[in-house]
Amino acid sequence: MQTDLRGRDLISTQDWTREEIETLLDVAWDLKRKRALGEPHALLRDKVLALLFFFTSTRTRISFEAGMAQLGGHAQFIDHTTTQISHGDTAKEIGEIVGRYTDGIAIRQCDWGVGNQYINDVAQASRVPVLNMQCDVYHPFQILADLMTIMEKFGRNLRGKTINISWAYASSYQKPISVPQSLVLLMSRFGMNLRLTRPPEYRLMPDIVEQARENTRRHGGSFAILDDFDAGCRDADILYPKSWGSWLTTEDELASAEIGAQYSDWIADDRRLRMAKDHAIYMHCLPADRNIEVADSVIDGPQSVVYDEAENRLHVQKAALALTMR
Ligand code: CP
Repeated sequence: MQTDLRGRDLISTQDWTREEIETLLDVAWDLKRKRALGEPHALLRDKVLALLFFFTSTRTRISFEAGMAQLGGHAQFIDHTTTQISHGDTAKEIGEIVGRYTDGIAIRQCDWGVGNQYINDVAQASRVPVLNMQCDVYHPFQILADLMTIMEKFGRNLRGKTINISWAYASSYQKPISVPQSLVLLMSRFGMNLRLTRPPEYRLMPDIVEQARENTRRHGGSFAILDDFDAGCRDADILYPKSWGSWLTTEDELASAEIGAQYSDWIADDRRLRMAKDHAIYMHCLPADRNIEVADSVIDGPQSVVYDEAENRLHVQKAALALTMR
């Protein structure tokens, strides 16, 4: 068990060994139990976490703020539009300066081709841990919460379980590809059978797919890419259908909307849920386009675990904060 994680960044789960991730999960369950029992766990008293947002959020902001308070510290919400970032503060300056005021910096910057580089540039300049609250490439805390949720439903040994990570249609906006990318990277380290199911225009970054294949070679399980939503759902244990943008095909919102409209029948509905195993769970990171991306009857139905996923954001994040900022 790896326990010395003080000072470590968490930008992608690939940066942490599987042992380190198992440690984070152990701590997350311990903190979840403590919160359920009302046991104080002020592990970060007097510590400050800066939360820098370039993009909207519900779950991420609220869970990080609540988590820091429960750990006895303070989370400082910073909207980039109300700082001098808009007048030229660079990533290096943010890393250097905010790192001198605080004990950790968490950032959400999802701009395509910008976000991940920005977070890495801040990390390079910062003396305190930098945590990725979602970028254009990764969404590590969402997927750690997803892994925790899957283990709560199926046990810690996930060998042989089949997960269908599928694209689904949404009309609201061209969503980042960080969730499916982080899913294939992390689930492939736990011996699962992965299906990545998407129309051809919705491919993921080739190097991410190659890393996921390498994880599968090392940890067991299988990895298949499909373009048939029904085939992906058949006999799966876990259905994780969500929309993402056709970023590798076009960055143009209108062109992307036209491509997406060809696949408006890619909805997670009851028929597709019935194709999966009887005990299958339905997952989504939220927010979802209801009755476009997923039917109400599925997301509100007995096989949906979306609220457990959302809750587990709190516990995995508190674990990461306690381990890296103490
Ligand atoms: N799933 C997720 O990251 O939610 P928010 O965008 O609301 O933070």
